[in-house]
Amino acid sequence: MEPPPQSELHEKLGAILEICQKMNSERDLGALLDLIAREATNLLGCDRASIFLLDAGRHELWSKVALGSDEILRFDASRGIAGTAVMTGKTVNVRDAYSDPRFYTAIDGQTGYRTRNVLAVAMRNQQGEIIGAFETLNKHAGSFSQRDEESLGALASHAAIAIETAQLIGELRRSQDELARQNANLWREVESKYSSHGIIGTGQRIQQVVRLVERIRDSLVNVLITGESGTGKEMAAKAVHYTSSRARRSFVAMNCAALPETLLESELFGIERGVATGVNPRMGLFQKADGGTLFLDEIGDLSLTAQAKILRVLQERVLERVGGRTPIPVDVRLLAATNKDLDAEIAKGAFREDLYYRIKVIHIHMPPLREIREEIPLLANHFLKEYCRETGRGVMEFTPAVIRQLINAPWPGNVRQLRNEVMRLAACAPGNVITEDDLLEGLPTLRKPDPKPAAAGRTASLKQAIEELERRMIGEALAETRQNQQQAARRLGLSRQGLINKMKRYAMAE
Ligand SMILES: Nc1ncnc2c1ncn2[C@@H]1O[C@H](COP(=O)(O)OP(=O)(O)O)[C@@H](O)[C@H]1O
Ligand SMILES: [Mg+2]
Repeated sequence: MEPPPQSELHEKLGAILEICQKMNSERDLGALLDLIAREATNLLGCDRASIFLLDAGRHELWSKVALGSDEILRFDASRGIAGTAVMTGKTVNVRDAYSDPRFYTAIDGQTGYRTRNVLAVAMRNQQGEIIGAFETLNKHAGSFSQRDEESLGALASHAAIAIETAQLIGELRRSQDELARQNANLWREVESKYSSHGIIGTGQRIQQVVRLVERIRDSLVNVLITGESGTGKEMAAKAVHYTSSRARRSFVAMNCAALPETLLESELFGIERGVATGVNPRMGLFQKADGGTLFLDEIGDLSLTAQAKILRVLQERVLERVGGRTPIPVDVRLLAATNKDLDAEIAKGAFREDLYYRIKVIHIHMPPLREIREEIPLLANHFLKEYCRETGRGVMEFTPAVIRQLINAPWPGNVRQLRNEVMRLAACAPGNVITEDDLLEGLPTLRKPDPKPAAAGRTASLKQAIEELERRMIGEALAETRQNQQQAARRLGLSRQGLINKMKRYAMAE
């Protein structure tokens, strides 16, 4: 064959370069394949061009049926002219398709196209691995020349790299989408875990809390949560945060009682550079919670100095780091909790009244477990299920007698203690049914609901011990109901007259 003139060669190379530039800016695989096919038909002056990509796992070649179409053609990787190029890695130039035994006529049958001549080259990635074949069909004038073979070869080597890049980007996008989807699912899980519905309890006292959390979901008011230790104050705070519009911003918690006064300020507000040698600048919790929620647990334990500083941040919405001069703006929603009676603290001068009103825009009170004993079966079963789920153990259950004991135990540590006891019981129980035997072995605190009468039992008669227990329970019930005899009697399972009789017998003030 005649060597082509230099000018034609230059022209071809220039055209290929131009095509490469276009290919490199196309990241979508479908669009890229269309672009390459279109450019190849122009470059080689032919009717059609197809790219067959190798699906090595299935030993198949696949291709889009036609330009702009999404229909896919698939066939065994060793078939046809394209298959021959892929299998041998060589250029295949066929001048009369129908007289060549390697030609795969079924494809024409499928596409309704009549192939006269075919030129196919293998496509290799940068590692030299064959990733498919590039095929051109029906040269407009005559058949494909050696020059065409070279042009297609050059184009194919660039196309392979662009295609592989687009494939990688496609995979990255897919895994990114997958991650985003998983992330959204995790968020949904977190939200449902801490949504107000994660607060277990069907009785009026707990439902009041749930309804209140729901009612304030659209506002960002400060909330004070009171209750004894272990009653679910932090859980309620998370419910408030995770049902609010700030759910996806941070929830930062700090226990004010856990830090000495000297560290508290830098922990809350941060430290500026150069305060003292060896002290690193640090961001405080207020700044970490910026845009989100700061939960100050045990706020009743804050010193008056710290209270004044927090009040200032709440009023002015700016803070100053320790040793810092420039105020830093912060946008923080404050949730606070305490097991102290803040009214009494204010009366003693230990808590600032102005701060109290700032944090107590809404007040949520978590009842002690002994006042909501009706929730114990539900809570105990909930924690047992949680244990089984987390440890992957089969379903476990309590006997009714165990539930009765749980209902009657004193629970000074409230729901937290109940949860711990259930976890311990479940871990110690040999079988899947937790019986009273397991209680006796694993639960000394439940076996001796009240240390005092039990101790008395060793030294005094049963009658004395029972009297002592009755006296104490009546005293507690009256204290909890603020001396309301009707309520105290109901709580003790007595009639009002029954209670009064016992109070007379024990010489308790009426
Ligand atoms: N009503 C409730 N429903 C479900 N779990 C609860 C409930 N009340 C408390 N808990 C659980 O009891 C434990 C102690 O609660 P927490 O919020 O830390 O109490 P507090 O902050 O008042 O000391 C946590 O594991 C919490 O999830
Ligand atoms: Mg707590």
